[in-house]
Amino acid sequence: MRVLSGIQPTGNLHLGNYLGAIRNWVKMQDEMPAMAAQAGMANNGKNADSQCFFFLADMHSITVHEGREQRIRNVRDMAAALVASGIDPDRSVLFNQARVPAHAELAWLLNGTARIGWLNRMTQFKDKAGKDREGASVGLFVYPVLQAADILLYQATHVPVGEDQKQHLELSRDIATKFNTDFGADIFTLPAPIIPKESARIMSLRDGTAKMSKSDPSDLSRINLTDEDDAIMTKVKKAKTDPEPLPETAEGLAGRPEANNLVGIYATLSNSTPDTVCAEFAGKGFGAFKPALGELLVETLRPMRQRFLELRTDDAALDAILDKGAAKATAAAEPTLRAAYDAMGLMR
Ligand code: TYM
Repeated sequence: MRVLSGIQPTGNLHLGNYLGAIRNWVKMQDEMPAMAAQAGMANNGKNADSQCFFFLADMHSITVHEGREQRIRNVRDMAAALVASGIDPDRSVLFNQARVPAHAELAWLLNGTARIGWLNRMTQFKDKAGKDREGASVGLFVYPVLQAADILLYQATHVPVGEDQKQHLELSRDIATKFNTDFGADIFTLPAPIIPKESARIMSLRDGTAKMSKSDPSDLSRINLTDEDDAIMTKVKKAKTDPEPLPETAEGLAGRPEANNLVGIYATLSNSTPDTVCAEFAGKGFGAFKPALGELLVETLRPMRQRFLELRTDDAALDAILDKGAAKATAAAEPTLRAAYDAMGLMR
């Protein structure tokens, strides 16, 4: 059993990243010893030492233009944010892609396997390229091939992500299957996405039909790890809602995307369910619900923010974490990379 996932170091870690993915990373890291024992029978022997791998997708981040200094800062900040969120660099392998050239190497090999038709179907490319497809970078188009390389390089079995990454995971499986078939070798493991039930898709606080995202121009649309207590309360109070009171059960949230989103966030943070939250607040308006949600967010995020602000003052310590992680990742990736070159008849 091997857990792997990544995050782009562009902008702040926000609540969507945290509830959709990072919280699950931490959970899987913490439960890894027990889960690995349970999955012992299913282990195919390719990754004998079960471990969690988490990385900063800085090679993916070149699809967004950024100055040199800012990119360096972003990588260190995201490393600090992950550690502050509970990723322990002694128990998990934490690194950035650029420090492990095997990612770029395998991505190039997989470019021979991935089909243009498959990439043309990627909804994230369509969303990000918008109307100007001809003007989009080649990197944006082949982005999912690098993502497949990230995953397949480590024989990952479980990939904890938010709902928006599901299609990329399916593509990774297609690429792995075709490569294994084309070269008659059982080199890559098929990864399974691990998507949380309640918080797979945290929506914008300004529009319950749009995903919470770091690229939304309105900062009021998202809660950032760096937001102070007051800012969190203000954003929750200003969050778009409807005039109806909260229903008795989660069924009553149908057709109310903003209410559904806020109840979902509350349920996830309190390790509860939307039904239980509705039962607690049934008949009350958002005037009563929002302060409770704001408090819950403030209490959850405050310790993480404080830890983040401490960690980000020590660049040398952050670089040392990433160096150490990269050395472990390079060693773990080498057998698979070597096997892929060899299967293709490319002599290194
Ligand atoms: P990224 O950086 O956009 O997001 C990181 C993680 O956060 C999740 N996420 C959300 N979940 C719920 N609601 C939201 N509003 C929300 N916004 C973001 C994402 O699903 C993701 O899990 N391509 C990836 C990074 C990547 C990767 C990989 C992931 C590169 N290589 C290999 C897994 C495996 C990305 O851009 O995520």
